[in-house]
Amino acid sequence: MAKSPSFSCSACGSSFTKWSGRCDGCGEWNTISEDTGLSVGPGSKSLGSKRGAGITLSDLRTEEAPPPRTPAGMAELDRVLGGGLVPASAILVGGDPGIGKSTLLLQAAAQFARQGLKTIYVSGEEASAQVRMRAQRLGLGDAPVQLAADTNLRNILTTLETEAPGLAIIDSIQTMWLDTVDSAPGSVSQVRAAAHELTTFAKRKGVSVVLVGHVTKEGQIAGPRVVEHMVDTVLYFEGERGHQFRILRAVKNRFGPAEEIGVFEMTGAGLAEVTNPSALFLSERGTPSPGSVVFAGIEGTRPVLCELQALVAPTPHSQPRRTVVGWDGGRLAMILAVLEARCGIPFAGLDVYLNVAGGMKISEPAADLAVAAALLSAREDSALPADTVVFGEISLSGALRPAPQTENRLKEAQKLGFASAIAPKGGKAYGSQGMALNLMSDLTGFVGEVFGAG
Ligand code: TYD
Ligand code: MG
Repeated sequence: MAKSPSFSCSACGSSFTKWSGRCDGCGEWNTISEDTGLSVGPGSKSLGSKRGAGITLSDLRTEEAPPPRTPAGMAELDRVLGGGLVPASAILVGGDPGIGKSTLLLQAAAQFARQGLKTIYVSGEEASAQVRMRAQRLGLGDAPVQLAADTNLRNILTTLETEAPGLAIIDSIQTMWLDTVDSAPGSVSQVRAAAHELTTFAKRKGVSVVLVGHVTKEGQIAGPRVVEHMVDTVLYFEGERGHQFRILRAVKNRFGPAEEIGVFEMTGAGLAEVTNPSALFLSERGTPSPGSVVFAGIEGTRPVLCELQALVAPTPHSQPRRTVVGWDGGRLAMILAVLEARCGIPFAGLDVYLNVAGGMKISEPAADLAVAAALLSAREDSALPADTVVFGEISLSGALRPAPQTENRLKEAQKLGFASAIAPKGGKAYGSQGMALNLMSDLTGFVGEVFGAG
């Protein structure tokens, strides 16, 4: 039977019957390629008239015990997992090549194995000897982890079925291949089919499966986004190559809070847990300088303080530069527009650089006011007091909106020796936590009071 060609987008996983340069699903360019393998998931044939068997229905009142969990004994990892590893769960760990995924998972494998969980680590990228040497160098040589170096998923699944481990780590999903799919390993159809096999295996056999996925330049797990939909938990391992901080972030978690982070430090002896990230992120901070502001943020359920740095300088170009590291460029443009339209402070003709120190990435709107403060401080060349933290959301009207979990932010700031905070007025009345609070209702007031301009 002649098979009609099928194409799919590597960014969003949409399927098409013909190739095109731009994906109608997500608008990305050059992401569509032909699927040469068998399709998995819902088939294209219609169901016909054959009736299926009935399925079991239950109501919402059915008592459901919380899933049992195995903690790794690494507090930062356990927090991100929502308290430990859930049996039969499928977890995707994504990150740039070289960021430390294999190191993290080798250390986690050793920890779980030491807790008595039977653990198998399959590397498709390194030889067993290489993994073993690394484990020994990290002081994990005695952990009862079983190693294998293979990429043939059929053989791997057979072995996993016989061995029946509690946890299997597959490093990486891009190197795995199935003989039922006739395209190259790492292609969209292979990655999708391999992830499908592994996630259904996890559910069927009660084995927790961790898939390692490399991230593309565009910041997506290489291969289709559908992998993210298939698994229960998606964790991203982030950080800057030049920095030693690494952040494990839960972007999706069926068994715990999303946006939770675990902070690690890459050392010569592997990844070390960072129990007080705020202290670490602020440790490189020197004397207060214009453009530097400490933002009291919340990551997941935990307050994290970090330093924002802005540089504002006359541009030699006709089009001024707007460069952001660790924050959203669109959001920066919005803050600049609000400062200009509501407070009459123009940034035309000025290059603007914004950096979140330490390689941290912030996505909270509550960083708005801290960003505005850093921009103004850089523009006016006037430093904010060193013992002040800033947070609050800015609306397009220039009004300041209260941020969630204010008390937690203030507590953390006080713990780290900060004496005052600039925050939005209103919302839930908050105890001052022994700090001097400078509460503002709009950006114009903030500009006038803090920088004596406006
Ligand atoms: P790796 O875990 O291989 O990255 P990934 O699996 O995400 O590609 O980590 C590679 C980097 O980590 C490598 O550049 C060296 C560094 N590293 C250390 O600094 N200390 C260590 O103890 C280890 C094992 C790696
Ligand atoms: Mg690796």
